[in-house]
Amino acid sequence: MKTTGGTDDQKRRAGDRAAELVADGDVVGLGTGSTAAHAIRAIGRAVEEGLDVRGIPTSFDSRSLAREAEIPLRSLDDVDGVDLAIDGADQIDADLQAIKGGGAAHAREKVVDAAADRFVVVADPSKTVERLSRAVPIEVLPDASAAVERDLVALGGEPSLRRAERKDGPVVTDNGNLVLDCEFGDIDDPQSLSTSLSGLPGVVEHGLFVDLVDAVYVGTDDGVDVRRRG
Ligand code: A5P
Repeated sequence: MKTTGGTDDQKRRAGDRAAELVADGDVVGLGTGSTAAHAIRAIGRAVEEGLDVRGIPTSFDSRSLAREAEIPLRSLDDVDGVDLAIDGADQIDADLQAIKGGGAAHAREKVVDAAADRFVVVADPSKTVERLSRAVPIEVLPDASAAVERDLVALGGEPSLRRAERKDGPVVTDNGNLVLDCEFGDIDDPQSLSTSLSGLPGVVEHGLFVDLVDAVYVGTDDGVDVRRRG
């Protein structure tokens, strides 16, 4: 399920540039994945040079990386708000609607990214599309997975349980749940699909991020293309 497109240099350019948005005193949401990791490392370097920030990790991995980078960490309980969140995406369309969850971290990511005053996606060019079409990751309570699969088929989807790669059995999220990846073909109306998925009993969170992204920083071979919500 994890996206492999894009080069590490493209991801680094996007992450480094987005990290420049962080201001002294900010509370920053720290996203998950290979592109957000570059932003976390860049914020860590700025902290070393004296920048005063507090980071809110979105996953086990982003927490570990932020600790290595010596970024002071807090939970959402400890702060009044989040100034800026920087996170990756698996697909992002021309209207800045996104699909996330290739790393199964989308539930916590959505909580932190949605809490932020400003949410910036960092991506390589392979993530940008005219229309969302990738399978939507859906985190489900383990006991509800069969029932949710049936509901997804009734919605016109083709769900499949995400399997672990170096473990027999399914992927288990940081929250102890399972992930169904659900194909819907081209997604013409992300808002309507998002509402339908959120309404299914047993769904913890899905990976459609609708009307949440304020800007996307796309790292290219020679720079960074910035697109802002119109
Ligand atoms: C984690 O679950 C995802 O939402 C990631 O943010 C997304 O998969 C992007 O990761 P990469 O930057 O590694 O492609």
